[in-house]
Amino acid sequence: MATKKTLEIISPTPEQTEKIGTLLGEMLTGGEVIALAGELGSGKTTLVKGIAQGMGFKEQEVVSPSFTLINEYDGPLPLFHIDFYRLEGEKDPFEIGFEEYISAEGVVVIEWADRVPQAVPKDSLWITLRYLEAERREIVMRAQADRYEKIIEELKKKLYNRNSSQKT
Ligand SMILES: Nc1ncnc2c1ncn2[C@@H]1O[C@H](COP(=O)(O)OP(=O)(O)O)[C@@H](O)[C@H]1O
Ligand SMILES: [Mg+2]
Repeated sequence: MATKKTLEIISPTPEQTEKIGTLLGEMLTGGEVIALAGELGSGKTTLVKGIAQGMGFKEQEVVSPSFTLINEYDGPLPLFHIDFYRLEGEKDPFEIGFEEYISAEGVVVIEWADRVPQAVPKDSLWITLRYLEAERREIVMRAQADRYEKIIEELKKKLYNRNSSQKT
């Protein structure tokens, strides 16, 4: 069900997924937690690259943190790019000091957040990506707090304006 709490969109290309990330990244002001779910290849890292660009980072800077657990990017608004893929059953996220990042001023983005959902703050923006076809992905965003409802509303406006201006 579509409400102001959710945004459901089909992305037809990696570029579009990145662009959606950029539009989202432009709206972040610090303290946000974005929890990403979706199988391997669904586009989580592609979306994060877009988010980073929206926050003002260069495209090449962002790489998948699968082997390092966390990548920290320093900027006016720091980005903490976390991957829970290898965390399951190994370490308690709180043991690695993960909660410090969340209380920091930056933006926290977690890939494979659904692997350790108990470590994800209740107030977060959940984004689930789903593989549909070779280049088609379903992206569903769910606001778990008021601040994310506002972001979703703004994002809908931006996406709508972009689409309508593309038609003309
Ligand atoms: N619409 C799309 N959105 C995102 N990625 C796509 C899309 N179509 C094809 N792809 C491809 O799927 C792969 C997604 O990889 P990645 O973003 O690393 O996924 P994940 O981090 O979820 O494993 C990339 O090779 C990308 O080019
Ligand atoms: Mg990834």
